Amino acid sequence: VKCLNTIETILRRSVGTEPVVAHTEGAQGDDSGEKDGPKSLSELMADRQEQAEKSVLISCPSRTSEKKFLKFLSKHGDINKHFFYESYGVYAVVEFARRDSVVSLLESAAIPNVNHECMVPFKSRLLSLSNQSSAASPAQQPRLPCRPQTTIAINELIQRLSREDSVDDQMGALTEAYQLTEENSRLRFLVCSLLKDVAAAYFPECTIRPFGSSVNGFGKLGCDLDMFLDLDTISGWNFKPPKSGLSLEYQMKRTNSERHVTQSILSVIGECVDHFGPGCVGVQKILNARCPLVRFAHQPSGFQCDLTANNRVAMKSTELLYLYGELDPRVRRLVFTVRFWARAHGVTSSIPGAWITNFSLTVMILFFLQKRSPPIIPTLDRLRDLAGPADESVIEGTDCTFVSDFSKIQLQSNTDTLEQLLGDFFEFYATFPFSRMSINIRKGREQNKPEVAPLHIQNPFETSLNVSKNVNTSQLDRFVALCQESAWLLQQGEARTQRGSGGNCMDNPWGLATLLLPSKVAGIKGRKKYKKEGASERIKSLLESLKNKNEEPKR
Ligand code: GTP
Ligand code: MG
Repeated sequence: VKCLNTIETILRRSVGTEPVVAHTEGAQGDDSGEKDGPKSLSELMADRQEQAEKSVLISCPSRTSEKKFLKFLSKHGDINKHFFYESYGVYAVVEFARRDSVVSLLESAAIPNVNHECMVPFKSRLLSLSNQSSAASPAQQPRLPCRPQTTIAINELIQRLSREDSVDDQMGALTEAYQLTEENSRLRFLVCSLLKDVAAAYFPECTIRPFGSSVNGFGKLGCDLDMFLDLDTISGWNFKPPKSGLSLEYQMKRTNSERHVTQSILSVIGECVDHFGPGCVGVQKILNARCPLVRFAHQPSGFQCDLTANNRVAMKSTELLYLYGELDPRVRRLVFTVRFWARAHGVTSSIPGAWITNFSLTVMILFFLQKRSPPIIPTLDRLRDLAGPADESVIEGTDCTFVSDFSKIQLQSNTDTLEQLLGDFFEFYATFPFSRMSINIRKGREQNKPEVAPLHIQNPFETSLNVSKNVNTSQLDRFVALCQESAWLLQQGEARTQRGSGGNCMDNPWGLATLLLPSKVAGIKGRKKYKKEGASERIKSLLESLKNKNEEPKR
């Protein structure tokens, strides 16, 4: 326990050393007027990590006076930002202007004294507020204003979409409703920072970074929190011993594989999270997976967390997806829409299995956008050619180099509407020669399949791997059948002409909303051609089944 309690030491060590960082707004942070064009993901992450290091997470009675709460906390220093949210009770995220305020606040907190239970005295920045004051009975106090951290239900979304005037607006509204908020993004970085304090018990200089949909621009509220423990930030890796004279090296345990090191590290960190991590429950160590990980739920934030180590290629994939999403606003909207559509129809799932993953699906969308005429986004080979010396990145022999300066990327002027893109996406994959060809975003062209697999999508960096190796024929067939159905539904004028005809908009879903209704083809086994008859009948019965269920459509 003594060894674990390094948090205060670490916090003290970093007091006063932090650079002043611009305050970012918007889910991914705004441009803050410092630099032209969007920020690179690493710049954004540095800002968010800085905010997280100066933040605490406090469980509060729901009828606390906000004013008194802030006055109480500001005794320790100025507050940059705060907000409340609900998850197994009400919590406050409070970011101070300086890190020493956090140290001061922690010094004023007590270890709870409870009967019949014993404490593991591991101190963290997760705290509880209590109010012993006899003044103003809590019942008279208004509830703290909470910012939502969850999404609206699918039937509410369908109603909302049906009130929009165009498919383009519908795709914008869907993205708006489901994307991560500024607060949710802050909370994700704070959870990483809290976890870093646990891992710092063993590796004081480590960093824990989020990757995947928490930061790639395509995450929706409620998505899991993928984290990786970065030990490359530890000093000493690149020390070159002097050519002559004395020098020192650390004595360290040696093992015969990188994978074994990763497994050992995750094993002890997993134990530590399980036994000492406040709010971390249901810890599972999944160390024999291709990418070893520790999975757990972080109750105070409500996030399902996957902690990995030595996963730098995944971080590069995240950066690449982020870059593509920032290049043209249509990219994020199309990705959000297709990912939502896929989830609604059970093409993707939160359970691992033979389904297409969100990552594979996103690569398929990027490939489709590279194939437009003119292309909407460049190929990965083009992005590599534009890279400067600072962008060079080779991870365990794999070349992950691509340009990070957005201003070097010239886009072609493609004026396709989102409605066209959505319809053409479904048509493209309804007729794609999956049996012969592989999807390749490095070249922006389909290639002959190098190996037998129902769906072959070349891993953008580890090019000998197939990112959709897990997908079986029946899942691919369902995807193709749903693409055929959705392409056809979008081509039908009838759904569109019904919009605005009055009455309850649940009676008149149109455009994108009709694509989210339960499908009639989702259960088919083979690749059958969709029959073009009985559209009104089908839509009517789909509506009926939706009205009867207050739940997501079944697979
Ligand atoms: P969600 O479904 O919203 O969690 O999307 P996600 O993009 O976060 O996907 P997931 O949690 O499955 O994976 C996290 C990240 O790991 C992805 O964004 C990719 O960067 C990477 N990743 C996932 N699957 C693969 C894969 O099969 N191959 C490679 N190279 N990277 C992957
Ligand atoms: Mg994820």
